[in-house]
Amino acid sequence: MTTFTGVPRAADPFPEPANDMAAPEEHDSPSEAPQPAVEEETKTFKDLGVTDVLCEACDQLGWTKPTKIQIEAIPLALQGRDIIGLAETGSGKTGAFALPILNALLETPQRLFALVLTPTRELAFQISEQFEALGSSIGVQSAVIVGGIDSMSQSLALAKKPHIVIATPGRLIDHLENTKGFNLRALKYLVMDEADRILNMDFETEVDKILKVIPRDRKTLLFSATMTKKVQKLQRAALKNPVKCAVSSKYQTVEKLQQYYLFIPSKFKDTYLVYILNELAGNSFMIFCSTCNNTQRTALLLRNLGFTAIPLHGQMSQSKRLGSLNKFKAKARSILLATDVASRGLDIPHVDVVVNFDIPTHSKDYIHRVGRTARAGRSGKSITFVTQYDVELFQRIEQLIGKKLPVFPTQDDEVMMLTERVTEAQRFARMELREHGEKKKRPREAPGDNDDTEGAIGVRNKVAGGKMKKRKGR
Ligand SMILES: Nc1ncnc2c1ncn2[C@@H]1O[C@H](COP(=O)(O)OP(=O)(O)OP(=O)(O)O)[C@@H](O)[C@H]1O
Ligand SMILES: [Mg+2]
Repeated sequence: MTTFTGVPRAADPFPEPANDMAAPEEHDSPSEAPQPAVEEETKTFKDLGVTDVLCEACDQLGWTKPTKIQIEAIPLALQGRDIIGLAETGSGKTGAFALPILNALLETPQRLFALVLTPTRELAFQISEQFEALGSSIGVQSAVIVGGIDSMSQSLALAKKPHIVIATPGRLIDHLENTKGFNLRALKYLVMDEADRILNMDFETEVDKILKVIPRDRKTLLFSATMTKKVQKLQRAALKNPVKCAVSSKYQTVEKLQQYYLFIPSKFKDTYLVYILNELAGNSFMIFCSTCNNTQRTALLLRNLGFTAIPLHGQMSQSKRLGSLNKFKAKARSILLATDVASRGLDIPHVDVVVNFDIPTHSKDYIHRVGRTARAGRSGKSITFVTQYDVELFQRIEQLIGKKLPVFPTQDDEVMMLTERVTEAQRFARMELREHGEKKKRPREAPGDNDDTEGAIGVRNKVAGGKMKKRKGR
């Protein structure tokens, strides 16, 4: 075991800036593995030092034994170490930080004990649910502090001084600055879930502000399936002699995930998407698009063809966003169309197929997107559309994951037979999108917002006499 030896907090430079991930304690190093694999397989939560009442909670969730990252990280976190936790998607990282925090909370009960920062609102709600599920029998209270939601009710929740605060950075700053009586001066734990994202440029100002108003002698836990290698970024988290718990040495996609690509001309993307949805009918899909507009458009297009599709993107109101997600989670919709707002952390076990309709521009996002399926030992499929414009990006992805992907088999003549119907549906989708945009410009005429494509069905019926609805039964 090596450590970030002598690495003090905050602005102090690392001794060897170019080699940060080699410098921290390499807990993944085979020669240093504390126990042989056979024994690890039989380890229980109790063996890791988790207290009985929390072991029971795990049992109730059906967690019969800890996952690899939990085996690595929990004992060290219980010893009070700062942790950089790197493990593949769907491998139980949430439990790996939630359990030691709850354990410590039981030992020294305190209000405003831990803060979990996440990049997206939906993920904050999900983490809160996990804390509540694990901590219900010990009366743990948590508050979710995220944007897009009434700030007043959040102030009230904070006034009750919950044990755990799960927040997106921006809204937390609002409360730190404007909510009387709320501060995090007694905080004991800071978690950054999706840490590489949180430490990225776009959260820089917020994270720096937060770090200034929480105690320096807190514990810090960073988790992600992809971690930044940039020293300066990690340094900003002000870790104290951290240990790196890495289940895999490089960024890996999950073993049970079958990954494919499809090389097609850009103009046939919609047609191929419809073909795939037909071919794999009966599955649950998450389809990723690069912009809010294309997410909305594609959702409308698919609905016009009779698919139960629903969008989730940043231009929707928060209540619509949660509404979409819940409908998809409840299996009332079989297709969730989303931007990268849904690419990280979301745990929806029944997702069978991830489609990268628009290729991700950041290769790391690929790992997170395809990680929405094949979670917790299940199997899953991913299909990435590669057009004539995407070749370089695709090669970068293959390089990052260290794999050459096979082609998803298609019958091109069958695909082309769909062209006419898809073209018609595209036309309606464009019309609906235009009407939707105009309504937004005239809010008085459209008091409810129409983010859910269902709001636009009326338009389709008006235009097509409802005929598209009857076509194609899916
Ligand atoms: N020890 C366990 N045994 C069985 N299931 C578990 C265990 N720990 C966690 N899980 C389940 O595994 C699923 C994935 O866990 P989680 O969301 O924490 O993954 P993650 O590693 O954070 O993934 P991501 O990188 O996508 O955020 C969840 O449904 C969770 O309930
Ligand atoms: Mg996670």
